[in-house]
Amino acid sequence: MRRGASGVDRPIPLIVKYGVATRIDDLFDRKAHTGKIRNVRGFVRYTRLGPSGPVISGVGLGSLALTGAYGAVGDTDADRLIRSALDAGVTFLDTAGFYAAGHVESLIGRAVARRGEGVVVATRGGVRRHGPRGTVESDGRPGSLERDCDASLRRLRTGRIGLFYLDCQDERVPVESSVERLSELVAAGKIGHLGLTGGTSQQVRRAHAVHPITAIAVEFSLWGRRPSAVLLDTVRELGIAVVAARPLGRGFLTGRVGPRPAFGPGDWRLADPRFDPERHEACAPQLKTLEAMAARLDVGAGRLALSWLLAQGEHVVPVPSTRDPVHLEMNLAASSVELPADTRDALSGLFPACPPGQSSPPLL
Ligand SMILES: NC(=O)c1ccc[n+]([C@@H]2O[C@H](COP(=O)([O-])OP(=O)(O)OC[C@H]3O[C@@H](n4cnc5c(N)ncnc54)[C@H](OP(=O)(O)O)[C@@H]3O)[C@@H](O)[C@H]2O)c1
Repeated sequence: MRRGASGVDRPIPLIVKYGVATRIDDLFDRKAHTGKIRNVRGFVRYTRLGPSGPVISGVGLGSLALTGAYGAVGDTDADRLIRSALDAGVTFLDTAGFYAAGHVESLIGRAVARRGEGVVVATRGGVRRHGPRGTVESDGRPGSLERDCDASLRRLRTGRIGLFYLDCQDERVPVESSVERLSELVAAGKIGHLGLTGGTSQQVRRAHAVHPITAIAVEFSLWGRRPSAVLLDTVRELGIAVVAARPLGRGFLTGRVGPRPAFGPGDWRLADPRFDPERHEACAPQLKTLEAMAARLDVGAGRLALSWLLAQGEHVVPVPSTRDPVHLEMNLAASSVELPADTRDALSGLFPACPPGQSSPPLL
């Protein structure tokens, strides 16, 4: 409670319905680094992205599903989905300049512009895709990054990008050169905070020495590729947050996604060897166990998978993507799951580690 001019206590105006994170930020400055705030639909957990980053919802919204990569979606439905997420208190949206050739950024830009301040959009530069099903090219050259940033600013209809990730897989360019130019864009006010994606532990250290890195984005889920222990130790030591990409294993962990023949043409999972019928089948017993563990907690498998990520620490922020408002609600409800420590530990060892040479395709 705060004291008003009349001396009467009045509630702190935490209007998370419209994602007014600046007010939530006030609360965090005065109190702890994380907290749960009740909104119209239950509790939304908020967390700080790194020690000096913005306060954001502890579960963000990924946007790959809005490209049609996992099944067709029209603009009206995509717009409705983004607005539903903002209504539900999501203040962290994760995207990339090359998603649907910039179209997803434009959709996000339009939806967020209507809300005013308080929503942090994370987007990515240094990678481009040649055509909807074309090859992917990493390009960390300073001039290219500046052009990527300017294009994202235009599409997002903002003067400043909340978090800009450098895709650091361009072997031609030392990460220092890329980060140097990005730090100039921070100084110019075009970027709020810097992130990295696709980086090794060494690259994270080298980048952080040039300019503070607020977050890294890595594939992180119960199933499939997980960040290495050395990378996790590095980011913990440097106070860098971890944005968990593909937190639902591209849908596998929900138990609702079958193997490869089930996908329509253009589905990005067609190129993912983990969805080969044999490999998918090999994980079926573990998936059944996951579903049984979830049923015991009276939640779905996907929600349990997200709550396991949340239990890794307050610096871990999953960004599941979906086209479906009901799935959105289910995913956000992961914040409310109290995961017993023994269940968390049992989940950690549930799926076998991805064998070397059989890793998933590059993170896109
Ligand atoms: N920085 C990077 O390098 C990088 C790389 C990859 C991804 N990312 C980010 O990570 C985000 C998430 O990854 P992702 O989209 O690849 O995979 P994901 O979030 O693990 O899975 C998305 C799939 O799960 C389904 N799904 C979501 N919620 C569900 C629910 N409650 N029940 C049943 N199905 C559900 C979606 O289908 P429906 O539409 O039917 O719900 C969609 O097919 C991306 O959108 C992107 O923002 C970042």
